[in-house]
Amino acid sequence: MKFFIDTANIEQIKEAQSLGILDGVTTNPSLMAKEGITGEKKILKHYVDICEIVDGDVSAEVISTNYKEIISEGEKLANLHSQIVVKVPMIKDGIRAIKYFTEKNIKTNCTLVFSLGQAILAAKAGATYVSPFIGRLDDFSNDGLNLIKEIKKVYHNYNYKTLILAASIRHTMHIINCSKLGADVITGPLNSITGLFNHPQTDLGLEKFLSDYKKGNT
Ligand code: G3P
Repeated sequence: MKFFIDTANIEQIKEAQSLGILDGVTTNPSLMAKEGITGEKKILKHYVDICEIVDGDVSAEVISTNYKEIISEGEKLANLHSQIVVKVPMIKDGIRAIKYFTEKNIKTNCTLVFSLGQAILAAKAGATYVSPFIGRLDDFSNDGLNLIKEIKKVYHNYNYKTLILAASIRHTMHIINCSKLGADVITGPLNSITGLFNHPQTDLGLEKFLSDYKKGNT
């Protein structure tokens, strides 16, 4: 399973990259705004800066909602850097644009996916990634993880190549459960990833090993 970090925060991206287990980055307009990155020039530069920190795919989201504008914005984003994946919303014009990008060998991430039907459309258009938002489904008393399970089954049935990128991850158990369900990628905030390191028995065990070593060597 690949690990992407879901942020536009450079320090957090650097920290995740330094752990040696980071496979890519996802961003969205809200995450860019949270970091104070506004205006086209700054936003485009920020994507390049992120690509220069990490080795893998970096999702850059279009803000256009009609076909022609999504194509022109997406091509501009894709031309920024070879690691850029064009993130396109799950709307009719978005699916048409994903089909176009697929034919042009431009990688895509179909975002704002909340149902199996939407995930099937993304796969049929040839999206590289589909992003089901599991945390936001949970927020509305829907079972986000169940959507991952359903997409996995249907993609397997039809041998769809689109990769399941579980998004809107909120905590470590989302990551653990996504791994059990066979999600190809998770994208989450830094603390959902670093939380996987934690176990009190690891801390206690290490403390004991080190103190026993000291006893034997003084
Ligand atoms: O990048 C999309 C998604 O991961 C957003 O997550 O926590 O805002 O629902 P969240």
